[in-house]
Amino acid sequence: MSHEVIRNRSIDDCHQLTIADLLLSWFDEHARDLPWRKDISATLRSFYSDRVSAFVDCLPFAERLNPRRDPYAVIVSELMLQQTQVSAVIAYYERFMERFPTIEKLADADETEVLKLWEGLGYYRRARFLSSLAKRVVENCDGIIPPNKKLLLSLPGIGQYTAGAILSFAYDLPEPAVDGNVIRVFSRLDAQPHVRGDAKAFRAVRNRVRALMTDDRAGDFNEAIMDLGATICTPSSPECSICPLHTLCQAYALNAVDMFPVRKDIEEKPIDRFSYVLIHRDNLVYVKRRAQGLLEGMYEFYSFPHPFGSEEEMSFRASLTGDWKTARYANCPFEHGRVREDVREYGDKKTLELEDEDPSDIGDLAEQMRVSFIGDKKAVYSHRIWEVSCWEVELLSDIEESSYISIDLSGEWVTIEELTELPFPAVLVPWRDAFIAQNHYPKNRL
Ligand code: ADE
Repeated sequence: MSHEVIRNRSIDDCHQLTIADLLLSWFDEHARDLPWRKDISATLRSFYSDRVSAFVDCLPFAERLNPRRDPYAVIVSELMLQQTQVSAVIAYYERFMERFPTIEKLADADETEVLKLWEGLGYYRRARFLSSLAKRVVENCDGIIPPNKKLLLSLPGIGQYTAGAILSFAYDLPEPAVDGNVIRVFSRLDAQPHVRGDAKAFRAVRNRVRALMTDDRAGDFNEAIMDLGATICTPSSPECSICPLHTLCQAYALNAVDMFPVRKDIEEKPIDRFSYVLIHRDNLVYVKRRAQGLLEGMYEFYSFPHPFGSEEEMSFRASLTGDWKTARYANCPFEHGRVREDVREYGDKKTLELEDEDPSDIGDLAEQMRVSFIGDKKAVYSHRIWEVSCWEVELLSDIEESSYISIDLSGEWVTIEELTELPFPAVLVPWRDAFIAQNHYPKNRL
């Protein structure tokens, strides 16, 4: 920028322009080279430039819309990057784009396949959002991700941050994309005690960024703050001495960088304790799709609402067989004269009071299962913790086949080949994979 231009600005403007200039020149040298940061191809650029005219009515910058990146690639990467480290995302992003290179291909796919590609990345709601977003965009917008904030915000999984990221990264429109990293940078730069994750902080920093953005290089500007937050202005041990903004940083001047932003009190998460049981016979494994809530759409093994420890095998056997009787009494697989009258009254209840159950009554049945304790596992989710005891149960072949089908109305038996195609939560993946790798079918039966 020329001195002439600078002279004509107010001091405040000068300060703001300095921040933008410093950031952009630093970014020119230090931008991270990431797979989702490829320039849009010439073909895709002209495809988008021609077709976004459909959105001209609701687009304030239509006359200078200049697609910078493939908007579809931006959405995929931004959804993957929510709550997730760049290093964890790279391989997932590459695999995903190889399988679904266009939004049309993604729109054609089944949600389960999308979840399978997401397996291990966590926060699976993002994959389900992405799958339904693709269907909506293809159906309603001719496959064009709209360069319009209001329309973007109406799509599944798109909030203020992601809308800003799409508008600025893909279309170079001057819209802030403020996440936790950006809040940290501005909290320190302005010595503002923003509270992490606080809606007020997001609003304040969005306004701050909007005021700083110039009409050009909006995408670079947002990526520059993001990279600064990720590589220099890090949560702990920030590298202030090499920060391009350190001469303007108020927290640095106060020698109080680690006081910003303010930490929110950490809330204690409730702990769910239960058992997972990998039940199998011959080439079949019992699985269940989680129909709602946490991990919706992911598959899991049979679960029992009590965490049986390794020393509790007897009561594990008793309650597992009891549970089967009560869970599906009307069509109970084990009702061949073995279910006691008093079990009936539990009807559709899921569990049976162990004290009331005499293990000798179910002795025959219990002997027809090979049971092993696998170990304990723990999973930490955003709002809960799971502590799970894992068991494996092989149903032995001398119970007739029809007896085993549909232990529980909501589950299903799948072959080991089918099992490999289903998405499981990360806490179950190593166990499931080890089970598949044992490949002991049909060995036992031959
Ligand atoms: N975190 C969120 N979005 C990102 C992006 N586009 N590049 C790097 N880190 C990010």
